Amino acid sequence: MSSHTCPWWLGYLLASPVRRLFENPTARLAPYVREGMLVLEPGPGMGFFTLEMARLVGPGGRVVAVDLQENMVAALRRRAQRAGLADRIDARCCSPDDLGIGDLAGRVDLAVLFHMLHEVSDQSRFLQAIHKALKPGGGVLIVEPRGHVSAEAFQASLAGAKTIGFEIAEPVEGKVLHALLRRTTAGPFS
Ligand SMILES: C[S@@+](CC[C@H](N)C(=O)[O-])C[C@H]1O[C@@H](n2cnc3c(N)ncnc32)[C@H](O)[C@@H]1O
Repeated sequence: MSSHTCPWWLGYLLASPVRRLFENPTARLAPYVREGMLVLEPGPGMGFFTLEMARLVGPGGRVVAVDLQENMVAALRRRAQRAGLADRIDARCCSPDDLGIGDLAGRVDLAVLFHMLHEVSDQSRFLQAIHKALKPGGGVLIVEPRGHVSAEAFQASLAGAKTIGFEIAEPVEGKVLHALLRRTTAGPFS
């Protein structure tokens, strides 16, 4: 874990219902998540977005949520169980240099990165792993906190993603830094 990694105890604050007053997970996800999808969520924390995503993919879909921190994953599993959504959520623990998603190669419809990309030390390796997991044409929704992450740093992340085989499908806009990427090619690293 790097010094940029969000401390595990902050996970409770991030998963608090009060956050809904500032950030509505349904509004953020509904335009992108469809029933039956396989969604990959690296860095879910304690699952503020994960539970809503599991509702949106429905009984035929699945969310694979992969976090570095065991405390985050354990709390996410408990919350999924309480919400009756555990059978739709595959919560996994990973290492900083391996997301452990080799079994998903070419199967993922959508990857969502909420407020986490800035914590990843090797973004190129990280985005390559996601590229491999996506179906051709699969999407990556990236949301980063404005203020915490500069517009320049965000643009640099998007430029790096383009070299891996992504195109920008939806531009940056709004109060947060937001972009939708699409897997276009097999990519130089696939
Ligand atoms: C700021 S929290 C955001 C949590 C959640 N996405 C949210 O918006 O509530 C960032 C999360 O990303 C995780 N994380 C950071 N680097 C990661 C990596 N390389 N792979 C997987 N998870 C990572 C952290 O452990 C933490 O749970």
